[in-house]
Amino acid sequence: MKVLVVGSGGREHALLWKLRQSLDVTELYCAPGNAGTRLVAENIFIPSVDRSALRKFALQKRVDLTIFGSELPLALGYADYFAESGLAVVGPSQEAAQLEASKVFAKHFMLEENIPTAAFAVFDDAPKAIAYVEGKRMPVVVKADGLAFGKGVTVCEMLADAVAAIRACLVEGKFGKAGKRILVEKCLTGVELSYHCLIAGDTYLPFVLSQDYKRLSDRGMGPNTGGMGARSPVPGTTEELVEKIESRIVEPTIAGLAKRSISYNGVLYIGIMVVGGEPYALEYNVRFGDPEGQVLLMRLKGDLFPLLWSVASGSSSGLEGKTAEFLRDAAVCTVASSAGYPDAKEYSSVPILGLEKAAAFPKTMIFHSGTRSVGDQIMTAGGRVLGVTSLARNSETAARRIRHALSRISFSGMHYRVDVGVDA
Ligand code: AMP
Ligand code: GLY
Repeated sequence: MKVLVVGSGGREHALLWKLRQSLDVTELYCAPGNAGTRLVAENIFIPSVDRSALRKFALQKRVDLTIFGSELPLALGYADYFAESGLAVVGPSQEAAQLEASKVFAKHFMLEENIPTAAFAVFDDAPKAIAYVEGKRMPVVVKADGLAFGKGVTVCEMLADAVAAIRACLVEGKFGKAGKRILVEKCLTGVELSYHCLIAGDTYLPFVLSQDYKRLSDRGMGPNTGGMGARSPVPGTTEELVEKIESRIVEPTIAGLAKRSISYNGVLYIGIMVVGGEPYALEYNVRFGDPEGQVLLMRLKGDLFPLLWSVASGSSSGLEGKTAEFLRDAAVCTVASSAGYPDAKEYSSVPILGLEKAAAFPKTMIFHSGTRSVGDQIMTAGGRVLGVTSLARNSETAARRIRHALSRISFSGMHYRVDVGVDA
């Protein structure tokens, strides 16, 4: 089978690494990829938002399966566009991708399906939104409706922060069209988890829980990022909690899609906040988390390809009888980022040293994100650069090994957290 993965992050590198081990997969392509994906696949120099070039490539090469790693192409309807040509795709239709691409759509969906979520109100007018928050107890959460590269959410401790966040979206146009409509939500306080499953129509295949380390610095300090680390399993989570998430959130989501005749064939990742033992849905994502994907795929036993093939089959019972099994070992991923991440507009490109030495550690993978090859040299090329991921009998041991591996790697301005996977 010939497989194309669209994207260039650590998540896509991990997908390719896992698919490379499949006996079914004969050829692997990545568009556009990075310096790491090049080691396990053939990089194709097509941007992930050039839909006609991507489809032309898939048709010419007779690609059997295309996997969209990130949300943007899905929100733009690439899954539909590929399907029109009879190409098999992992990733939902544009209609279904609204679950991630419009937070207002997602919240109305949750409300209609009785899925527990934070109370909210929708605004497109700044004075009305400001009057509303003036009557609320802080903190509140202000969210741009559309895709904003993970930067559209502000947790506001003070009224002045909420007013500034509202003005940034509705007056200053900080997120362009994506911020022309906003949500103001009640702020939930609890433990945040990432729930992932594969969905083929009416059937789903649960993955184990994972957790993202969202803040830039140790002990949860500093600004929110796309994710500075992840771990799986998550200590303190029980079978009972998983059962609640599935019966109150996942199954009503699948039923709600069916009720609207929206077919879903792809990965669904739900951000969950557990408050006093009860799970609330924070948001939907129509793809694997990054870096959650890295830890989940390191723990996944067996062959990923047949599972994704069933997802893409288009049949509404594609995952019936399938199982996903996971190693008991803990997986931890720590992200090394560039100077200025997450707020810089541009990142300087500097050489990365020590990658080979770091890769020599057992049960350790160096998944690349923002990297590129220039001759024999690997250079940084973006905010998040590498995700060093390791498996061990517990997360402390994995975290220690990752710190050793990271100490062999260096690039100018390199930053990483040392508390990922370490319990206080
Ligand atoms: P999102 O872009 O919707 O994934 O939100 C980004 C992050 O903001 C989430 O991962 C949470 O940490 C936080 N967040 C979102 N909504 C809420 C909420 N209602 N209460 C508390 N934190 C939230
Ligand atoms: N790690 C969060 C995300 O992928 O959206």
